[in-house]
Order: sequence, then C-alpha cells, then structure tokens
Amino acid sequence: MSTWISRGAALAVGFGAAVTAAGALAHDDPMPKNPTPAQRAAYVRHDHFQELDKAFKAVGDELKKSAPDKAVLASSARMVATMADAIPSWFPRGSGVEARPMSGAKANIWTDAAGFGAKAADLQAEALKLSQAAANGDVAGVKAQYGPVGGACQACHDTYRSGRKM
Ligand code: HEC
Repeated sequence: MSTWISRGAALAVGFGAAVTAAGALAHDDPMPKNPTPAQRAAYVRHDHFQELDKAFKAVGDELKKSAPDKAVLASSARMVATMADAIPSWFPRGSGVEARPMSGAKANIWTDAAGFGAKAADLQAEALKLSQAAANGDVAGVKAQYGPVGGACQACHDTYRSGRKM
C-alpha cells in the first residue's frame, strides 16, 4: 500500500513542477490595454491557475519533508480546495483563444459545458478530501489524497486544455 501512495505522490509532484515551468513561458503575454470582459477573464484565469498550481505544489513540497508542517499543509490544501470551487467561474463564454491567443482553453469547454463541469466537480471533490485531511492534521491522509487531486487536474487538461502538455 505504501508503494502505491508514494508512487502516486511522486507522479503528482512531477506533474506540478512541469506545469509550473510551462506556465512561466506565458509571462511575456501581458493583458491588452482596455481589455473586454472576456479578455480580462482569459488573462486573470492564467494568474489564477498559476496560484492554484503554486498552492498544490506547496502541498507536494511539504510532503517531501521528513516532518511536514501541518499548518502549511492545511493552508495550502484549503487554498487548492477554494480555488477548485472557483474554476467554473473562470471560463465565461468568449474567453478562449479568441480573447487570448496563447490560451490553452479548448472550444469544447463551452460546447461540452456539462463534461467540463463534471471534471471541475471531480477536482472539487478530491480537493475537499485533501483539505479535510490537512485540516485534521492527518499527514498520511494528505499524502494518500495528493495523487488523486493531481489526477483530477490532469483528467481535465487531457480533454479541455490544448498545447503545452505537462
Ligand atoms: C475543469 C478543468 C480543469 C481542472 C480540474 C484543472 N485545470 Fe488547469 N487548466 C484548465 C484549462 C482549460 C487550462 C487552460 C486555460 C487557458 O490557457 O486559458 C488550464 C491551465 C492550467 C495551467 C496553466 C495556466 C497558464 O495560463 O499558464 C496550470 C498551471 C494549471 N492549469 C494547473 C492546474 C492544477 C494544478 C490543477 C489541479 C489542482 C488544475 N489545473 C485543474 C482546466 C482545468
């Protein structure tokens, strides 16, 4: 059992690091002056995903330590769960590549809104479990839940995100 957990955590840790590196590329892409609401949403969403990634990676970094700081786990996991809840609101119609050419948001986010919403709900459920374990100071529980959260990120990216792969 412990082999499975550590393999899942290692995969998820690698995933977070790769996503961060890819995200850094997009910094040469400032928001246009006087953006439309859809343009603003597309650019702000980029920042939100960077923050979500940072919070998730903070959990992974803490888990690598021999004595993880439970307060850091709790605050970072709570941030992941809070941001996961907000994901659907980051995708108003018209905020895809038409609003930001570098966007990785695929058109099926809006043509298959139910499927996209289901992927967001999957992450919300997994992130809630992560945050509950962290709030309880249950380090083993956080460790066990880290892989499933990373898997829920990946599952959505596989279908609804184009371009840069992690
Ligand atoms: C419901 C779907 C969905 C889920 C769940 C999801 N993402 Fe994403 N993510 C996307 C989409 C779509 C994009 C592309 C957005 C864009 O470029 O406009 C994206 C982009 C990103 C980016 C790149 C941001 C940028 O612009 O450089 C990062 C980093 C990221 N996601 C991290 C995560 C992490 C970490 C998780 C899980 C904790 C996660 N995502 C969960 C859909 C999702």
